[in-house]
Amino acid sequence: MGLSRNDSLVVFEKVSKTFVDLKFRKVQALQDINLYVKSGEFIAVLGPSGCGKSTLLRLAAGLDEPTAGRVVYQNEVITGPSPDRGLVFQAYNAFPWLTVRENVAFGISQDAEESHSDEISKWLSVTGLSEFADCYPKVLSGGMRQRVALARTMIVKPGLLLLDEPFGALDELTRDSMQRLLLQLARDSDCTVLLVTHDIREAVLLSDRVILLSPRPGQIVEVFNSPLPKPRTRHLMKSPEFDRLHECIVERLGDQAGNAFSTEARTA
Ligand SMILES: Nc1ncnc2c1ncn2[C@@H]1O[C@H](COP(=O)(O)OP(=O)(O)OP(=O)(O)O)[C@@H](O)[C@H]1O
Ligand SMILES: [Mg+2]
Repeated sequence: MGLSRNDSLVVFEKVSKTFVDLKFRKVQALQDINLYVKSGEFIAVLGPSGCGKSTLLRLAAGLDEPTAGRVVYQNEVITGPSPDRGLVFQAYNAFPWLTVRENVAFGISQDAEESHSDEISKWLSVTGLSEFADCYPKVLSGGMRQRVALARTMIVKPGLLLLDEPFGALDELTRDSMQRLLLQLARDSDCTVLLVTHDIREAVLLSDRVILLSPRPGQIVEVFNSPLPKPRTRHLMKSPEFDRLHECIVERLGDQAGNAFSTEARTA
């Protein structure tokens, strides 16, 4: 797609990332990533375990810096974290020392909390947590904790929502209802989303583009543009277009997984 930098909300420009571990061994997580993300776009990122997906999101969140290249947000190079680029982590991430309400209100300054109480109630209600507002996360289920994390991130209306396998640890039914919630949030806000997932059906259902990464070091090997109409609903999962795209991705991902195992075999 011929998107120029100026049309894009987020730009990854020749981005590579190499980590040095505690034994001074170098691990290259990402290599030469070029990605232009349009405002309002929903992008899913798929790839074998360890290929650099979380690293990609952490770079966009400003929690890590690229070793080469740059990540640009609203035409400025990202140099650190900002609430405008909200990250929901791979593991359950409600703050255990705060109640549900306090978690949701976390990004709002204390002085402003009173004037935002309607907004806080709205997000507690949207995520089905009103009843549990005064509870601590330890009494919540995994899905409820992920809803707390989503509400806490969404309440500040981020321009960019970074989701790192947010529903990975949930059972299928809870996952379904979380996907519905995400569809609704994506419809109702003009937020741009980068979603890392291992679930190909989830990627196809939710996104405008699916980016496929190679085994480590992660490189973009394929970009699938979704032919599915918007707004997205779960009914689309029964359509032939859905099946076609799903099958195509399964096949390509299978090739990548095969490559990952042969790489491991070579280095073992
Ligand atoms: N802080 C770090 N220090 C050293 N190596 C790291 C660090 N963070 C990530 N890595 C390495 O970078 C590579 C990519 O890690 P990353 O967490 O981005 O993978 P991933 O695609 O998210 O994997 P998964 O699907 O299992 O979550 C891995 O080999 C990992 O060990
Ligand atoms: Mg990860």
